[in-house]
Amino acid sequence: MKLIITNSYEESCKYVAQEMVSLVNANPVAKLGLATGGTAEQVYPHLVKAYQDGKVDFSNVTTVNLDEYLGMSPDNPVSYRKCMDNWFFDHVNIKKENTYVASGLNDPQAEIKTFNQKLYGDKLLDFQLLGVGVSGHIGFNEPSAVLTAGVHIEELDESTIQANSRYFDSPADVPTKSITMGVGDIMKASKIILIATGDSKQPVISKLFADDSVSSDLPVSVLKLHRDATIVIDRALADKCG
Ligand code: F6R
Repeated sequence: MKLIITNSYEESCKYVAQEMVSLVNANPVAKLGLATGGTAEQVYPHLVKAYQDGKVDFSNVTTVNLDEYLGMSPDNPVSYRKCMDNWFFDHVNIKKENTYVASGLNDPQAEIKTFNQKLYGDKLLDFQLLGVGVSGHIGFNEPSAVLTAGVHIEELDESTIQANSRYFDSPADVPTKSITMGVGDIMKASKIILIATGDSKQPVISKLFADDSVSSDLPVSVLKLHRDATIVIDRALADKCG
């Protein structure tokens, strides 16, 4: 697992976007695993800018998103489908039919099948973008006695519900379950970049680099087993981690 420390969160976002642009330029039919969340959000304007500047072509790219809240309508403004449309898909030349964000409304078992079809029906992910939760989750794989390899329904950690309540009227409105890629799905991506920023992420980033251990108590630690995983943090977060 590689660590990159940038001068600022803005620089981290630019770095991650540039890596994604380079990857797509080298492989115009790349299959990208994408993330939502406040940290990843600011990567997308840089991808849109690169497209507008004629530096990248998304017309043959396919995408699969990490997760969605269970019960969430794709039409709901806080759904991950709407986030992805608003932040990225609506502003570049990607074909909408080549993008997949799980529907939280469909029958969960049927949606798990569709999710697997999107993940494995043609080829594996060339890339996966990740954020990390205050709980240490990746996707919505929360700390637990065991981790799940494949796509599944996951109960959200109380800390995740609290953290994500900023997008809802109150914590009580945050869905308590999600449909998410499992850690095995994430680990099958050829290349992984995780972006983290902010004081709230200091405990998990400190734990991640404290030692060589891999534990289901800290799901993000599985990235230590991946041959091309990079963690990108800014100097402010790095300094807090000591
Ligand atoms: C989002 C996702 C989550 C977020 C994580 C961090 O698709 O899978 O793992 O990346 O919760 O979210 P922020 O950046 O909002 O702290």
